[in-house]
Amino acid sequence: MAGQGSGTVPVWDRFVRVFHWTTVTLFALEFVTDRIQWIHQPLAYAILVLVLARVAWGFVGSRHARFTDFVHRPRAVRAYLEDLRHGRARRYLGHNPAGGAMVVAILFMLVFVIASGWLSVTPEFLHVEWMHHVHHISAHLLLLMIFAHVAGVIWSSRLHRENLVRAMITGRKSAQVEAEDSTPAGPGIGARGPAV
Ligand code: HEM
Ligand code: HEM
Repeated sequence: MAGQGSGTVPVWDRFVRVFHWTTVTLFALEFVTDRIQWIHQPLAYAILVLVLARVAWGFVGSRHARFTDFVHRPRAVRAYLEDLRHGRARRYLGHNPAGGAMVVAILFMLVFVIASGWLSVTPEFLHVEWMHHVHHISAHLLLLMIFAHVAGVIWSSRLHRENLVRAMITGRKSAQVEAEDSTPAGPGIGARGPAV
């Protein structure tokens, strides 16, 4: 582990980075293939496999990939958002409490959208209009969440003068303010995993 103020430290392991950028690519493709179902459906199932693997990695992966590192109680998320509003939010090496909540919401919504898409092509729901609406609305709701996610990434990058997108590519972040790392704003859930 690099010392305070010097160099960079590993934060996102290879799995998290490959998972992230592959999911981004497949998710974008889902929006342009809705009329090409032989591509739309297999790609969605590929996303499902990625999400399930990410959930498993959330229990056994490296330190900042673990749910215990970034899932906080709602009170801590609210406190973080309040701090963010006043421009005094702490820097986290892993996901901050609001980002962590968004990560869980995105994973959940991906499964929901895929389930609604699958249901809408089953014989039982093929001609049930509302199921197709559920698929349409949930896919677009998730898209809105992604806009919020990217806005949060940009906001947080500006606040702490660090490039979070680059960190999701290289896996590394500046080692500065190491001492402030990762202690949740409020009580986190469960124990911490081992360091990367
Ligand atoms: C081009 C658009 C996107 C950019 C620039 C972006 C950027 C990022 C960054 C920088 C992080 C790390 C945040 C942090 O430092 O705490 C992150 C995490 C994450 N993003 Fe995105 N993102 C994008 C689109 C998406 C999309 C489309 C999805 C899913 C449909 C998504 C899902 C996630 C998830 C699940 C994580 C958590 C990563 C993990 O712990 O495995 N992102 N994103
Ligand atoms: C993350 C995964 C998925 C995303 C982001 C997604 C997104 C979309 C979007 C944006 C549309 C256009 C909706 C409209 O304009 O009405 C659409 C249509 C459609 N999707 Fe998906 N989809 C996903 C997964 C699936 C899956 C797993 C299936 C089926 C196995 C599926 C089946 C369909 C069908 C049949 C349509 C045509 C419109 C309809 O009849 O509802 N989708 N999807």
